[in-house]
Amino acid sequence: MDWGLKNRLAHIIKPNDNRALMLAVDHGYFLGPTEKLEIPKKTIGPLLKYCDSLMLTRGVQRTSVNPTYPVPIVLRVSGGASIIGQDLSNEQITVSIKDAIRLNASALAMSIFVGAKHEHQTIVNLSKLVNDANEYNLPVLAVTAVGKEIGQKDARYLSLACRIAAEHGAHIVKTYYCDNFERVVDSCPVPIIVAGGKKIPERDALELAYNSIKGGAVGVDMGRNIWQSENPVPMIRAVHNIIHGNANVDEAYELYKKLCQPKPKSPKTKK
Ligand code: R5P
Repeated sequence: MDWGLKNRLAHIIKPNDNRALMLAVDHGYFLGPTEKLEIPKKTIGPLLKYCDSLMLTRGVQRTSVNPTYPVPIVLRVSGGASIIGQDLSNEQITVSIKDAIRLNASALAMSIFVGAKHEHQTIVNLSKLVNDANEYNLPVLAVTAVGKEIGQKDARYLSLACRIAAEHGAHIVKTYYCDNFERVVDSCPVPIIVAGGKKIPERDALELAYNSIKGGAVGVDMGRNIWQSENPVPMIRAVHNIIHGNANVDEAYELYKKLCQPKPKSPKTKK
């Protein structure tokens, strides 16, 4: 592996423990102002120091992230569809490699829609993106999109989608946790990162992170289960404790609850 590629991958998957905590805030690219991400700067700011990398679009990066803060960027470069449009799978590559380099991206992210109407287009887009990104040693993260009309979040479908992403050159695959998740990991020759999905109770989300790691994922790319929590900072710190601190679910949940407690006031010193 060339130095540049290795170095960029190390921004995302930490080489000391081979784990990754990616904070996903790219939802607006097809969902618009998602709940609790209406003002991206406000959501992202307090969480930045606890994540290894930030997954977002160039619009949010330029407007809402301090360029002097050294957080590695996983730049979403696919889009072109919306939640109210005809077909979510009708995506194209929307960002040039030049612009990604200008933004100092550590990796590029795009979605493939295996089994959907525009399956062919999105898989070919992945291959072309890998061709272009390889010229500059930029890693590509493929997201295996799911949806009612596409496929179930089960090991059979997700193994198929992840393997196809890896076969077409993705350096990392982002997918969903499922029963028999080990099967998905075993048949995918590149590292897997698990998406958080819709907001669920905090303990359940911590369990998802724990099971993902236990099942062989290198980490999580979590969004809504962090910033839609009533307590986003305690939540990301608890997830961090699982990913990098080897905490189990109980330990992480205890930490979450502890961090939610109001800090005791320090006694006033007499003058
Ligand atoms: C898909 O790629 C989405 O845009 C999100 O990045 C992904 O679903 C992770 O976010 P969440 O944990 O909210 O599902």
